[in-house]
Amino acid sequence: MQLIGLKNPLDLLHSIVRSSMDLLNCDAGSLYLHKDEGQLSFEVALNDSVDFEFQRAKIPLTRPGVATHVYLGGKSLRIRDVYRIPTSLKGVVFDSSFDAKLGYRTRSVLAVPIKNSRGAVLGVLQLLNKKNRSSQHWPSHSEAALAKMPQFDKQDVELLESFAAVAAASLENQGLYREIETLFESFVKASVVAIDSRDPGTRGHSVRVAHLTVELARAASEASDEDLLDICFSDDDLKELLWAGYVHDFGKIGVRESTLQKEQKLTEVQRLRIEARIQDGLLAAERRGEAGRSTQETLTKVWSEILELSRPTVLAEAAGLRLEELSRLEFEGSRGEVRVLLEPADVVSLQIAKGCLTPEERKEIESHVTQSYDFLRRIPWGPKFRRIPEIAYCHHELLDGSGYPRRLKGDSIPLCARIMTICDIFDALSASDRAYKAALPLEKTLWILNSMVERGQLEARLYRVFVREKIWERLPRAIAVEAVPGLSKIAA
Ligand SMILES: [Fe+2]
Ligand SMILES: [Fe+2]
Repeated sequence: MQLIGLKNPLDLLHSIVRSSMDLLNCDAGSLYLHKDEGQLSFEVALNDSVDFEFQRAKIPLTRPGVATHVYLGGKSLRIRDVYRIPTSLKGVVFDSSFDAKLGYRTRSVLAVPIKNSRGAVLGVLQLLNKKNRSSQHWPSHSEAALAKMPQFDKQDVELLESFAAVAAASLENQGLYREIETLFESFVKASVVAIDSRDPGTRGHSVRVAHLTVELARAASEASDEDLLDICFSDDDLKELLWAGYVHDFGKIGVRESTLQKEQKLTEVQRLRIEARIQDGLLAAERRGEAGRSTQETLTKVWSEILELSRPTVLAEAAGLRLEELSRLEFEGSRGEVRVLLEPADVVSLQIAKGCLTPEERKEIESHVTQSYDFLRRIPWGPKFRRIPEIAYCHHELLDGSGYPRRLKGDSIPLCARIMTICDIFDALSASDRAYKAALPLEKTLWILNSMVERGQLEARLYRVFVREKIWERLPRAIAVEAVPGLSKIAA
Protein backbone atom coordinates (compact mmCIF):
# COMPACT_ATOMS: atom_id res chain seq x y z
CA MET A 1 0.00 0.00 0.00
CA GLN A 2 1.47 3.30 -1.04
CA LEU A 3 -0.73 6.26 -0.27
CA ILE A 4 1.90 8.66 0.97
CA GLY A 5 3.30 11.00 -1.63
CA LEU A 6 0.42 10.69 -4.09
CA LYS A 7 -0.23 14.36 -4.77
CA ASN A 8 -2.63 13.87 -7.65
CA PRO A 9 -6.12 13.60 -6.08
CA LEU A 10 -7.39 10.99 -8.53
CA ASP A 11 -4.24 8.86 -8.20
CA LEU A 12 -4.76 8.75 -4.46
CA LEU A 13 -8.43 7.72 -4.74
CA HIS A 14 -7.61 5.02 -7.27
CA SER A 15 -4.83 3.75 -5.10
CA ILE A 16 -7.14 3.53 -2.07
CA VAL A 17 -9.68 1.42 -3.96
CA ARG A 18 -7.10 -0.75 -5.73
CA SER A 19 -5.11 -1.45 -2.57
CA SER A 20 -8.20 -2.33 -0.54
CA MET A 21 -9.46 -4.68 -3.29
CA ASP A 22 -6.09 -6.45 -3.30
CA LEU A 23 -5.96 -6.54 0.47
CA LEU A 24 -9.31 -8.32 0.80
CA ASN A 25 -9.35 -10.27 -2.47
CA CYS A 26 -12.33 -8.50 -3.98
CA ASP A 27 -13.53 -8.32 -7.55
CA ALA A 28 -14.69 -4.72 -7.45
CA GLY A 29 -14.53 -1.57 -5.37
CA SER A 30 -15.75 1.99 -5.34
CA LEU A 31 -15.25 5.21 -3.45
CA TYR A 32 -17.57 8.11 -2.62
CA LEU A 33 -16.62 11.45 -1.11
CA HIS A 34 -18.75 14.04 0.58
CA LYS A 35 -17.71 17.22 -1.24
CA ASP A 36 -20.91 19.22 -1.53
CA GLU A 37 -23.75 19.66 0.87
CA GLY A 38 -26.53 17.08 0.54
CA GLN A 39 -24.76 14.71 -1.83
CA LEU A 40 -22.04 12.14 -2.28
CA SER A 41 -19.66 12.33 -5.16
CA PHE A 42 -19.08 8.96 -6.83
CA GLU A 43 -15.34 9.26 -7.54
CA VAL A 44 -13.93 5.85 -8.44
CA ALA A 45 -15.23 2.42 -9.49
CA LEU A 46 -12.94 -0.48 -10.39
CA ASN A 47 -13.92 -3.95 -11.54
CA ASP A 48 -11.55 -6.79 -12.41
CA SER A 49 -14.04 -8.88 -14.39
CA VAL A 50 -15.86 -6.48 -16.69
CA ASP A 51 -14.74 -3.52 -18.77
CA PHE A 52 -16.80 -0.36 -18.50
CA GLU A 53 -16.49 3.34 -18.85
CA PHE A 54 -16.72 5.03 -15.49
CA GLN A 55 -18.40 8.38 -15.16
CA ARG A 56 -18.26 10.41 -12.00
CA ALA A 57 -21.68 11.21 -10.62
CA LYS A 58 -23.45 13.07 -7.84
CA ILE A 59 -25.71 11.02 -5.61
CA PRO A 60 -28.24 12.84 -3.41
CA LEU A 61 -28.05 11.74 0.21
CA THR A 62 -31.81 11.25 0.11
CA ARG A 63 -31.48 8.38 -2.39
CA PRO A 64 -31.63 5.07 -0.51
CA GLY A 65 -28.49 3.05 -1.28
CA VAL A 66 -25.57 1.27 0.36
CA ALA A 67 -23.19 4.22 0.19
CA THR A 68 -25.69 6.84 1.39
CA HIS A 69 -26.79 4.51 4.19
CA VAL A 70 -23.21 4.04 5.41
CA TYR A 71 -22.40 7.72 5.07
CA LEU A 72 -25.45 8.89 7.00
CA GLY A 73 -25.19 6.20 9.68
CA GLY A 74 -21.40 6.43 10.02
CA LYS A 75 -21.26 2.64 10.49
CA SER A 76 -19.90 -0.19 8.36
CA LEU A 77 -22.33 -2.39 6.48
CA ARG A 78 -21.90 -6.02 5.44
CA ILE A 79 -24.35 -7.70 3.07
CA ARG A 80 -24.13 -11.35 1.97
CA ASP A 81 -26.18 -10.95 -1.19
CA VAL A 82 -27.40 -7.59 -2.40
CA TYR A 83 -30.32 -9.25 -4.21
CA ARG A 84 -31.53 -10.63 -0.89
CA ILE A 85 -31.11 -7.68 1.46
CA PRO A 86 -32.56 -8.61 4.89
CA THR A 87 -35.70 -6.72 5.83
CA SER A 88 -33.90 -5.51 8.96
CA LEU A 89 -31.88 -3.21 6.68
CA LYS A 90 -34.72 -0.88 5.94
CA GLY A 91 -33.81 1.93 3.59
CA VAL A 92 -30.97 0.06 1.89
CA VAL A 93 -31.72 -0.43 -1.79
CA PHE A 94 -29.26 -1.94 -4.22
CA ASP A 95 -28.96 -0.18 -7.57
CA SER A 96 -28.80 -3.07 -10.05
CA SER A 97 -28.48 -0.97 -13.20
CA PHE A 98 -24.71 -1.65 -13.49
CA ASP A 99 -25.29 -5.42 -13.27
CA ALA A 100 -28.12 -5.30 -15.81
CA LYS A 101 -26.10 -3.31 -18.30
CA LEU A 102 -22.91 -5.36 -18.14
CA GLY A 103 -24.23 -8.81 -17.36
CA TYR A 104 -22.49 -8.71 -14.01
CA ARG A 105 -23.70 -10.23 -10.76
CA THR A 106 -22.93 -8.31 -7.61
CA ARG A 107 -23.25 -10.43 -4.51
CA SER A 108 -21.39 -9.66 -1.29
CA VAL A 109 -20.75 -6.09 -0.21
CA LEU A 110 -18.66 -4.50 2.51
CA ALA A 111 -18.90 -0.72 2.84
CA VAL A 112 -17.11 1.31 5.53
CA PRO A 113 -17.23 5.01 6.34
CA ILE A 114 -13.98 6.92 5.72
CA LYS A 115 -13.61 8.79 9.02
CA ASN A 116 -10.94 11.27 10.01
CA SER A 117 -9.28 11.33 13.44
CA ARG A 118 -12.06 13.58 14.78
CA GLY A 119 -14.73 11.10 13.72
CA ALA A 120 -16.09 13.17 10.82
CA VAL A 121 -17.18 11.06 7.85
CA LEU A 122 -15.37 12.12 4.66
CA GLY A 123 -16.84 9.46 2.39
CA VAL A 124 -17.47 5.76 1.88
CA LEU A 125 -15.20 2.95 0.72
CA GLN A 126 -17.07 -0.01 -0.71
CA LEU A 127 -15.81 -3.45 -1.73
CA LEU A 128 -17.82 -5.94 -3.73
CA ASN A 129 -17.64 -9.67 -4.30
CA LYS A 130 -15.07 -11.27 -2.06
CA LYS A 131 -13.08 -13.99 -3.82
CA ASN A 132 -10.64 -16.71 -2.79
CA ARG A 133 -7.77 -14.98 -4.52
CA SER A 134 -7.28 -11.75 -6.47
CA SER A 135 -6.71 -13.40 -9.84
CA GLN A 136 -9.95 -15.39 -9.73
CA HIS A 137 -12.54 -14.44 -12.37
CA TRP A 138 -15.96 -13.60 -10.95
CA PRO A 139 -18.52 -16.27 -12.00
CA SER A 140 -21.40 -13.92 -12.73
CA HIS A 141 -23.39 -16.51 -14.67
CA SER A 142 -23.20 -19.52 -12.40
CA GLU A 143 -25.35 -19.50 -9.27
CA ALA A 144 -23.64 -22.68 -8.12
CA ALA A 145 -20.18 -21.13 -8.43
CA LEU A 146 -21.41 -17.90 -6.82
CA ALA A 147 -22.67 -19.87 -3.84
CA LYS A 148 -19.16 -21.21 -3.29
CA MET A 149 -17.59 -17.74 -3.09
CA PRO A 150 -16.41 -16.60 0.35
CA GLN A 151 -18.18 -13.95 2.42
CA PHE A 152 -16.82 -10.91 4.22
CA ASP A 153 -16.22 -11.72 7.90
CA LYS A 154 -15.75 -9.58 11.00
CA GLN A 155 -12.01 -9.55 10.51
CA ASP A 156 -12.50 -8.10 7.03
CA VAL A 157 -14.62 -5.32 8.52
CA GLU A 158 -11.91 -4.46 11.04
CA LEU A 159 -9.24 -4.60 8.39
CA LEU A 160 -11.12 -2.35 5.97
CA GLU A 161 -12.02 0.11 8.75
CA SER A 162 -8.32 0.41 9.66
CA PHE A 163 -7.48 0.87 6.01
CA ALA A 164 -10.15 3.55 5.67
CA ALA A 165 -8.61 5.43 8.62
CA VAL A 166 -5.24 5.50 6.84
CA ALA A 167 -6.98 6.60 3.65
CA ALA A 168 -8.74 9.41 5.57
CA ALA A 169 -5.41 10.67 6.90
CA SER A 170 -3.96 10.64 3.37
CA LEU A 171 -6.97 12.48 1.99
CA GLU A 172 -6.72 15.11 4.70
CA ASN A 173 -2.98 15.50 4.19
CA GLN A 174 -3.54 15.94 0.51
CA GLY A 175 -6.18 18.59 1.16
CA LEU A 176 -3.80 20.42 3.51
CA TYR A 177 -0.99 20.16 1.01
CA ARG A 178 -3.19 21.65 -1.69
CA GLU A 179 -4.27 24.45 0.63
CA ILE A 180 -0.66 25.30 1.46
CA GLU A 181 0.31 25.18 -2.19
CA THR A 182 -2.59 27.45 -3.19
CA LEU A 183 -1.78 29.88 -0.40
CA PHE A 184 1.87 30.00 -1.36
CA GLU A 185 1.10 30.37 -5.05
CA SER A 186 -1.24 33.30 -4.36
CA PHE A 187 1.40 34.92 -2.20
CA VAL A 188 4.08 34.54 -4.86
CA LYS A 189 1.79 35.89 -7.59
CA ALA A 190 0.79 38.90 -5.48
CA SER A 191 4.45 39.66 -4.73
CA VAL A 192 5.33 39.40 -8.40
CA VAL A 193 2.62 41.89 -9.35
CA ALA A 194 4.02 44.25 -6.70
CA ILE A 195 7.58 43.90 -8.04
CA ASP A 196 6.65 44.24 -11.70
CA SER A 197 4.57 47.32 -10.94
CA ARG A 198 7.66 49.14 -9.56
CA ASP A 199 8.77 49.43 -13.14
CA PRO A 200 5.88 50.13 -15.50
CA GLY A 201 8.21 49.32 -18.41
CA THR A 202 8.24 45.66 -17.44
CA ARG A 203 4.67 45.18 -16.29
CA GLY A 204 3.67 41.52 -16.64
CA HIS A 205 7.25 40.51 -17.53
CA SER A 206 7.67 37.82 -14.85
CA VAL A 207 4.39 36.07 -15.62
CA ARG A 208 5.15 36.02 -19.35
CA VAL A 209 8.70 34.74 -18.79
CA ALA A 210 7.29 32.01 -16.53
CA HIS A 211 4.87 30.77 -19.18
CA LEU A 212 7.33 31.10 -22.08
CA THR A 213 9.94 29.14 -20.11
CA VAL A 214 7.52 26.33 -19.31
CA GLU A 215 6.39 26.13 -22.92
CA LEU A 216 9.95 26.05 -24.27
CA ALA A 217 10.92 23.36 -21.75
CA ARG A 218 7.84 21.32 -22.68
CA ALA A 219 8.54 21.65 -26.40
CA ALA A 220 12.20 20.67 -25.94
CA SER A 221 11.04 17.68 -23.88
CA GLU A 222 8.60 16.53 -26.53
CA ALA A 223 10.90 17.11 -29.51
CA SER A 224 12.40 14.04 -31.12
CA ASP A 225 15.55 15.77 -32.45
CA GLU A 226 18.67 13.73 -31.84
CA ASP A 227 20.35 16.49 -29.83
CA LEU A 228 17.32 17.02 -27.57
CA LEU A 229 16.76 13.45 -26.44
CA ASP A 230 18.50 14.08 -23.13
CA ILE A 231 15.94 16.75 -22.24
CA CYS A 232 12.99 15.42 -20.31
CA PHE A 233 10.90 17.51 -17.93
CA SER A 234 8.28 15.94 -15.67
CA ASP A 235 5.11 17.79 -14.63
CA ASP A 236 6.79 18.63 -11.32
CA ASP A 237 9.87 19.95 -13.15
CA LEU A 238 7.63 22.20 -15.28
CA LYS A 239 5.89 23.48 -12.18
CA GLU A 240 9.25 24.27 -10.64
CA LEU A 241 10.15 26.19 -13.80
CA LEU A 242 6.86 28.10 -13.70
CA TRP A 243 7.51 29.28 -10.17
CA ALA A 244 11.14 30.03 -10.93
CA GLY A 245 9.86 32.22 -13.79
CA TYR A 246 7.47 34.06 -11.51
CA VAL A 247 10.22 34.93 -9.04
CA HIS A 248 13.31 35.24 -11.23
CA ASP A 249 13.42 39.05 -10.94
CA PHE A 250 12.36 39.13 -7.28
CA GLY A 251 15.58 40.96 -6.41
CA LYS A 252 14.34 44.07 -8.24
CA ILE A 253 12.67 44.84 -4.95
CA GLY A 254 16.10 45.97 -3.75
CA VAL A 255 16.79 48.30 -6.69
CA ARG A 256 15.78 51.96 -6.42
CA GLU A 257 12.73 52.88 -8.45
CA SER A 258 14.55 55.91 -9.87
CA THR A 259 17.12 53.54 -11.36
CA LEU A 260 14.59 50.95 -12.52
CA GLN A 261 12.52 53.62 -14.22
CA LYS A 262 15.35 55.76 -15.56
CA GLU A 263 14.63 56.76 -19.14
CA GLN A 264 17.26 59.47 -19.83
CA LYS A 265 21.01 59.72 -19.31
CA LEU A 266 20.47 62.53 -16.80
CA THR A 267 18.41 61.79 -13.73
CA GLU A 268 15.36 63.91 -12.99
CA VAL A 269 17.27 65.73 -10.23
CA GLN A 270 20.26 66.44 -12.48
CA ARG A 271 17.98 67.86 -15.17
CA LEU A 272 16.18 70.14 -12.71
CA ARG A 273 19.45 71.47 -11.28
CA ILE A 274 20.90 72.23 -14.72
CA GLU A 275 17.66 73.95 -15.68
CA ALA A 276 17.76 76.05 -12.48
CA ARG A 277 21.35 77.19 -13.21
CA ILE A 278 20.41 78.12 -16.77
CA GLN A 279 17.36 80.05 -15.56
CA ASP A 280 19.62 81.92 -13.15
CA GLY A 281 22.07 82.70 -15.97
CA LEU A 282 19.22 83.90 -18.18
CA LEU A 283 18.01 86.21 -15.41
CA ALA A 284 21.50 87.70 -15.01
CA ALA A 285 21.86 88.10 -18.78
CA GLU A 286 18.46 89.79 -19.05
CA ARG A 287 19.50 92.33 -16.42
CA ARG A 288 22.51 93.24 -18.52
CA GLY A 289 20.19 94.21 -21.36
CA GLU A 290 21.76 94.40 -24.80
CA ALA A 291 25.11 93.19 -23.44
CA GLY A 292 23.55 89.97 -22.21
CA ARG A 293 21.71 89.13 -25.43
CA SER A 294 24.29 86.67 -26.80
CA THR A 295 24.55 84.85 -23.43
CA GLN A 296 20.76 84.49 -23.46
CA GLU A 297 20.89 82.96 -26.93
CA THR A 298 23.74 80.63 -25.95
CA LEU A 299 22.02 79.39 -22.79
CA THR A 300 18.72 78.76 -24.61
CA LYS A 301 20.58 76.82 -27.27
CA VAL A 302 22.65 74.71 -24.85
CA TRP A 303 19.54 73.77 -22.90
CA SER A 304 18.02 72.12 -25.95
CA GLU A 305 21.41 70.54 -26.72
CA ILE A 306 21.56 69.05 -23.23
CA LEU A 307 18.05 67.64 -23.55
CA GLU A 308 19.12 66.04 -26.81
CA LEU A 309 22.35 64.67 -25.32
CA SER A 310 20.36 63.18 -22.44
CA ARG A 311 18.34 60.94 -24.74
CA PRO A 312 19.30 57.25 -24.33
CA THR A 313 20.91 56.96 -27.75
CA VAL A 314 24.43 55.95 -28.75
CA LEU A 315 26.78 58.87 -28.14
CA ALA A 316 28.08 59.94 -31.55
CA GLU A 317 31.64 61.28 -31.90
CA ALA A 318 30.53 64.81 -32.76
CA ALA A 319 28.18 64.86 -29.79
CA GLY A 320 31.04 63.72 -27.57
CA LEU A 321 33.21 66.61 -28.71
CA ARG A 322 30.37 69.07 -28.16
CA LEU A 323 29.86 67.66 -24.68
CA GLU A 324 33.50 68.34 -23.93
CA GLU A 325 32.96 72.02 -24.91
CA LEU A 326 29.79 72.22 -22.82
CA SER A 327 31.57 70.74 -19.81
CA ARG A 328 33.89 73.78 -19.88
CA LEU A 329 31.10 76.33 -20.34
CA GLU A 330 30.77 78.91 -17.60
CA PHE A 331 28.49 81.93 -17.26
CA GLU A 332 27.61 84.65 -14.81
CA GLY A 333 24.92 83.97 -12.17
CA SER A 334 22.33 86.47 -10.85
CA ARG A 335 24.59 87.41 -7.94
CA GLY A 336 27.52 88.04 -10.19
CA GLU A 337 29.20 84.69 -9.38
CA VAL A 338 30.69 82.31 -11.96
CA ARG A 339 28.45 79.31 -12.62
CA VAL A 340 29.22 76.10 -14.46
CA LEU A 341 26.69 74.66 -16.86
CA LEU A 342 27.48 71.05 -15.95
CA GLU A 343 28.67 69.45 -12.69
CA PRO A 344 31.24 66.63 -13.06
CA ALA A 345 28.47 64.03 -12.32
CA ASP A 346 26.33 65.51 -15.11
CA VAL A 347 29.21 65.06 -17.53
CA VAL A 348 29.65 61.42 -16.46
CA SER A 349 25.95 60.80 -17.11
CA LEU A 350 25.95 62.50 -20.49
CA GLN A 351 29.07 60.54 -21.46
CA ILE A 352 27.13 57.24 -21.25
CA ALA A 353 28.04 55.60 -24.54
CA LYS A 354 24.84 53.60 -24.98
CA GLY A 355 21.48 53.48 -23.23
CA CYS A 356 20.81 55.61 -20.18
CA LEU A 357 22.61 53.99 -17.25
CA THR A 358 25.93 54.97 -15.70
CA PRO A 359 28.27 52.11 -14.75
CA GLU A 360 27.11 52.43 -11.12
CA GLU A 361 23.45 52.37 -12.08
CA ARG A 362 24.02 49.37 -14.32
CA LYS A 363 25.71 47.60 -11.42
CA GLU A 364 22.74 48.43 -9.23
CA ILE A 365 20.30 46.96 -11.78
CA GLU A 366 22.49 43.89 -12.21
CA SER A 367 22.51 43.37 -8.46
CA HIS A 368 18.88 42.22 -8.74
CA VAL A 369 20.14 38.75 -9.64
CA THR A 370 22.18 38.29 -6.48
CA GLN A 371 19.40 39.89 -4.47
CA SER A 372 16.90 37.43 -5.99
CA TYR A 373 19.14 34.56 -5.00
CA ASP A 374 19.76 35.86 -1.46
CA PHE A 375 16.05 36.26 -0.94
CA LEU A 376 14.87 33.03 -2.58
CA ARG A 377 17.36 30.76 -0.86
CA ARG A 378 15.79 31.67 2.48
CA ILE A 379 12.50 30.09 1.44
CA PRO A 380 12.06 26.39 2.31
CA TRP A 381 10.99 25.31 -1.17
CA GLY A 382 11.05 21.58 -0.37
CA PRO A 383 12.63 18.89 -2.54
CA LYS A 384 10.35 19.46 -5.55
CA PHE A 385 11.21 23.13 -5.96
CA ARG A 386 14.68 23.17 -4.48
CA ARG A 387 16.36 24.43 -7.68
CA ILE A 388 14.35 27.67 -7.89
CA PRO A 389 16.99 29.91 -6.20
CA GLU A 390 19.79 28.56 -8.42
CA ILE A 391 17.71 28.94 -11.61
CA ALA A 392 16.97 32.57 -10.73
CA TYR A 393 20.64 33.12 -9.85
CA CYS A 394 21.68 32.07 -13.37
CA HIS A 395 19.07 33.80 -15.54
CA HIS A 396 21.52 36.48 -16.79
CA GLU A 397 24.47 34.14 -17.36
CA LEU A 398 25.51 33.52 -20.96
CA LEU A 399 27.17 30.40 -22.36
CA ASP A 400 30.37 32.24 -23.38
CA GLY A 401 30.92 33.59 -19.88
CA SER A 402 29.95 37.17 -20.74
CA GLY A 403 26.86 37.18 -18.51
CA TYR A 404 26.51 38.14 -14.86
CA PRO A 405 26.87 38.00 -11.89
CA ARG A 406 29.24 35.01 -11.81
CA ARG A 407 30.27 34.88 -15.47
CA LEU A 408 29.45 31.17 -15.57
CA LYS A 409 30.16 29.26 -18.78
CA GLY A 410 28.48 26.45 -20.73
CA ASP A 411 27.29 23.46 -18.73
CA SER A 412 27.94 25.14 -15.40
CA ILE A 413 24.73 27.08 -16.12
CA PRO A 414 21.77 24.79 -15.34
CA LEU A 415 19.64 23.74 -18.32
CA CYS A 416 16.54 25.33 -16.73
CA ALA A 417 18.32 28.68 -16.57
CA ARG A 418 19.56 28.38 -20.16
CA ILE A 419 15.94 27.93 -21.24
CA MET A 420 14.77 30.84 -19.11
CA THR A 421 17.48 33.18 -20.44
CA ILE A 422 16.16 32.87 -24.00
CA CYS A 423 12.62 33.64 -22.84
CA ASP A 424 13.75 36.48 -20.58
CA ILE A 425 15.62 38.24 -23.41
CA PHE A 426 12.78 37.61 -25.85
CA ASP A 427 10.30 39.27 -23.51
CA ALA A 428 12.60 42.15 -22.58
CA LEU A 429 13.03 42.99 -26.27
CA SER A 430 9.56 42.31 -27.60
CA ALA A 431 7.37 43.58 -24.80
CA SER A 432 8.95 46.79 -23.53
CA ASP A 433 6.45 49.56 -23.19
CA ARG A 434 8.88 52.23 -22.08
CA ALA A 435 8.10 55.61 -23.53
CA TYR A 436 11.55 56.00 -25.09
CA LYS A 437 12.09 52.42 -26.15
CA ALA A 438 9.49 50.99 -28.45
CA ALA A 439 8.90 47.26 -28.41
CA LEU A 440 10.82 45.57 -31.17
CA PRO A 441 8.94 43.76 -33.90
CA LEU A 442 9.15 39.97 -33.80
CA GLU A 443 11.60 39.70 -36.71
CA LYS A 444 14.06 42.12 -35.10
CA THR A 445 13.75 40.38 -31.71
CA LEU A 446 14.51 37.02 -33.29
CA TRP A 447 17.38 38.53 -35.25
CA ILE A 448 19.01 39.73 -32.02
CA LEU A 449 18.47 36.36 -30.31
CA ASN A 450 19.91 34.62 -33.37
CA SER A 451 23.03 36.77 -33.33
CA MET A 452 23.48 35.89 -29.63
CA VAL A 453 23.25 32.20 -30.60
CA GLU A 454 25.88 32.77 -33.30
CA ARG A 455 28.16 34.46 -30.79
CA GLY A 456 27.85 31.34 -28.60
CA GLN A 457 25.89 33.11 -25.86
CA LEU A 458 22.58 31.24 -26.14
CA GLU A 459 22.06 27.53 -26.74
CA ALA A 460 21.44 26.81 -30.43
CA ARG A 461 19.29 23.68 -29.98
CA LEU A 462 16.96 25.46 -27.54
CA TYR A 463 16.67 28.53 -29.74
CA ARG A 464 15.89 26.26 -32.71
CA VAL A 465 12.90 24.81 -30.81
CA PHE A 466 11.87 28.30 -29.66
CA VAL A 467 11.59 29.48 -33.27
CA ARG A 468 10.32 26.27 -34.83
CA GLU A 469 7.51 25.87 -32.31
CA LYS A 470 6.78 29.62 -32.19
CA ILE A 471 6.78 29.43 -28.41
CA TRP A 472 5.52 33.03 -28.13
CA GLU A 473 2.25 31.91 -29.72
CA ARG A 474 1.70 29.57 -26.79
CA LEU A 475 1.41 32.38 -24.25
CA PRO A 476 -2.05 32.26 -22.70
CA ARG A 477 -3.98 34.85 -24.67
CA ALA A 478 -4.96 36.93 -21.66
CA ILE A 479 -1.29 37.36 -20.74
CA ALA A 480 -0.01 37.94 -24.25
CA VAL A 481 -2.40 40.30 -25.95
CA GLU A 482 -2.01 43.36 -23.80
CA ALA A 483 1.67 43.02 -23.09
CA VAL A 484 3.23 41.94 -26.36
CA PRO A 485 2.32 44.49 -28.99
CA GLY A 486 1.78 42.99 -32.37
CA LEU A 487 1.71 39.45 -31.01
CA SER A 488 -1.97 38.96 -31.68
CA LYS A 489 -1.33 40.05 -35.24
CA ILE A 490 1.55 37.64 -35.62
CA ALA A 491 -0.35 34.79 -33.98
CA ALA A 492 -3.37 35.32 -36.19
FE1 LIG B 1 16.51 39.70 -14.58
FE1 LIG C 1 13.63 39.11 -16.26
